[in-house]
Amino acid sequence: MTKSHFDAIRADVENELKRVFDARCDIPQKLLESMKYSVFAGGKRLRPILVVAAAEAVGGNRKAALPTAAALEMIHTYTLIHDDLPAMDNDDMRRGMPTNHKKFGEATAILAGDGLLTLAFEVMAEQPAGGDVSPSVLLRVIRTVAKAVGAEGTVGGQEVDMEYEGKQGDLKILEYIHAHKTGTMITAAVVSGGLLGGAGDDDIRALGEYGHKVGHAFQVFDDILDVVGDAKEMGKNVGGDSKKQKTTYPALMGLEESKKFGHRLVEEAIGALSSIKGETRYLKELAEYVAKRTN
Ligand code: IPE
Ligand code: IPE
Ligand code: MG
Ligand code: MG
Ligand code: MG
Repeated sequence: MTKSHFDAIRADVENELKRVFDARCDIPQKLLESMKYSVFAGGKRLRPILVVAAAEAVGGNRKAALPTAAALEMIHTYTLIHDDLPAMDNDDMRRGMPTNHKKFGEATAILAGDGLLTLAFEVMAEQPAGGDVSPSVLLRVIRTVAKAVGAEGTVGGQEVDMEYEGKQGDLKILEYIHAHKTGTMITAAVVSGGLLGGAGDDDIRALGEYGHKVGHAFQVFDDILDVVGDAKEMGKNVGGDSKKQKTTYPALMGLEESKKFGHRLVEEAIGALSSIKGETRYLKELAEYVAKRTN
């Protein structure tokens, strides 16, 4: 990654997240603390960076993309809080700190997730400060994100992930799980960025294809890192997938084949950008980063 460019986007995303929370004074103290605890625990901020990078790749303005970028990070954070619950993956560490339910208890962790998910939609529905986005574009962004993270997307993927714990699914099942629990949200980030940046139908289609491949690759490498990664560096425990007998790429095709498959997806993601006339360099770098990351 070109450090300074992505650092600058990340700094804008952090400010936008702060703005969102600073503007809310009616959240009960413990719930607010719990929501902020997980949002500001760190994290790579990949999804919001993708929103901004996609908007800028099609010639759009960053300010118009920032609320949706922050919203995607809040939605992602809610999925992590719920994913770590005892009823799901039962994990103790996330983003280098005790998981939300370890710190605040299960009830507040569930509610913090609920609060983040709904707040995200409130934020997406607002007119961005300094942006001039038509209500029909905002509505399309909201529909895109809702479909991607709901029962036909992330929630559905998480359901099938849980159903297949302890039994070996085939490649078709695995592809469904990965495309849904992780892929749809990443695709929605890229497509929303494109919509907010004013992209036409052809560019939106290309961005959708890119997002789908990047999202799939991201989860393939997440599975790989659960086998070979360093817990300290990742800020979460490793080895849990095999302990819980999860259906993962390394379990099904082995480590080396999984890496090759992941790299192929990244190549295909980059290929999908070829028809876009704008500056796609940063989207390319983000795709490459997915295969190189160590945390
Ligand atoms: C972890 O996502 C959950 C998956 C979808 C694999 P990230 O690896 O993006 O987690 P953070 O946001 O950096 O903590
Ligand atoms: C999580 O997948 C996907 C979502 C949170 C939607 P994992 O269960 O593999 O994520 P980690 O490894 O706990 O971060
Ligand atoms: Mg999980
Ligand atoms: Mg998990
Ligand atoms: Mg994982």
